[in-house]
Amino acid sequence: MAEAPQKSWQARISEATDAIAQKFVESISYDRRMYKHDIAGSVAHATMLAKVGLINDAERDAIIEGLKGIERDIEANNFAFDESLEDIHMVVEAELIKRIGEPGRKLHTGRSRNDQVALDLMLWIREVAHGELQIALSDLCKAFVGLAERSKDVVMPSFTHLQRAQPISAGAEAMAWMQMFDRDISRLFHSGHGYQSTKPQSPLGSGAIAGSSLPIDPEFTATIFKAMQAPESSIERTASRDQACDFVYACAMISQHLSRWAEQWIIYMSTEFNFIKIADRYTTSSSMMPQKRNPDMLELIRGRCGNVYGDLFALMTILKGLPIGYNRDLQEDKRIVFRAYDTVSSCLTMAAAIVNSASYNKEAIEPTLDKGFLDATSLAEYLVTKGVPFRTAHHIVGTLVARCEKEGKTSLAQLTLEEFQEVISAHAPKVMLTDDVYGALGAKNVVKRYQSAGAAGGKPFEEQLAAWKKRLGISG
Ligand code: ARG
Repeated sequence: MAEAPQKSWQARISEATDAIAQKFVESISYDRRMYKHDIAGSVAHATMLAKVGLINDAERDAIIEGLKGIERDIEANNFAFDESLEDIHMVVEAELIKRIGEPGRKLHTGRSRNDQVALDLMLWIREVAHGELQIALSDLCKAFVGLAERSKDVVMPSFTHLQRAQPISAGAEAMAWMQMFDRDISRLFHSGHGYQSTKPQSPLGSGAIAGSSLPIDPEFTATIFKAMQAPESSIERTASRDQACDFVYACAMISQHLSRWAEQWIIYMSTEFNFIKIADRYTTSSSMMPQKRNPDMLELIRGRCGNVYGDLFALMTILKGLPIGYNRDLQEDKRIVFRAYDTVSSCLTMAAAIVNSASYNKEAIEPTLDKGFLDATSLAEYLVTKGVPFRTAHHIVGTLVARCEKEGKTSLAQLTLEEFQEVISAHAPKVMLTDDVYGALGAKNVVKRYQSAGAAGGKPFEEQLAAWKKRLGISG
């Protein structure tokens, strides 16, 4: 049997780690995801050590060469991660020493796994928050803008309290979801920076907690990582996980938005609504009921939000009451950060594919537009243009709706001019109505009349759409 590699602390701990404890303490099974960041940190550290004269240039070069070789082997899937070495930091360092000998033994000068791990996680978060997740979110935004464009002439009801409210351009609702995901892009971007007003502070140089008595140059190390500065407090840098919280919170917000959108479309896909159609390839059927077409992907997106909220809670709870300075509890942060990322990233990809395949069901929506007196607010606003105070107009229209319902009329446009005039005269005697009142009625007319900034139809909607197409580089 091959002998277990020596641990760096062998001189102090008299027994080899217990086998159960070994399995229990390891993080290499998941923190290997940070191998690139760990190696980048070591390259920067070695560069700094040579600059201040703690190692010579030949030692630096041997270290950097050795690290690059390890990186290549990991990338080529030609590397065995030894669990007994616990984590990515010790695995890389032990392998380096194995490969290059003495110079490798100098790499850990003036540093600790505590500042290493804090840096690695920071770099990992920055990479995905400024990279893959940004791209996934912007693809989803583009998908919603595409849907808005395809649905330009679909008019549909909007809902408040899930009751029919006012008519809108269907595309305006797609653009509303897009807005939420666009805000997620900024939230995520800030989490990538660690929400710092100045440049984020690289933890390297903080050592285990108190820095180092050697003449290391953390400011120089920090400049090697784009837009970073030296730690202002070695204690804080090794103890805090604020950036991880910011990142998981940003993920939780993305999940919330995804979950709300998924729920909305699940409702819209029901036979009762039949507002939206997504491609069959994103649905499943039932093992028992042959007629079924179920929105399982949307349901999973809705449900997985629960996992990400759980991740946020788990991280916040791990940090609650944790004394300052590194504590091993902090090792759990990575499991959570990676899981939140994996969940959100796959949900975003799935969501964009679904939205790209979707269309509003114009044929099913339009015949229902007469239901629910969607034009009532428009009529009240029309009366305002005739000089009726809004409160009075609201009362008049309420009376007219009640009258329609009593007489079995399904829409306000079914009332004659005389019938309108009768109710209006009772509350606003000076106002004489003309035929143009009918131009303010009917969902399609109403949508064209919207003129306030950000409104869900008419010119404001077209302007919104054009501006976003331009911003996201969508042609046509
Ligand atoms: N694997 C550890 C973690 O993820 C690295 C830091 C270990 N530090 C220590 N003092 N035991 O947090």
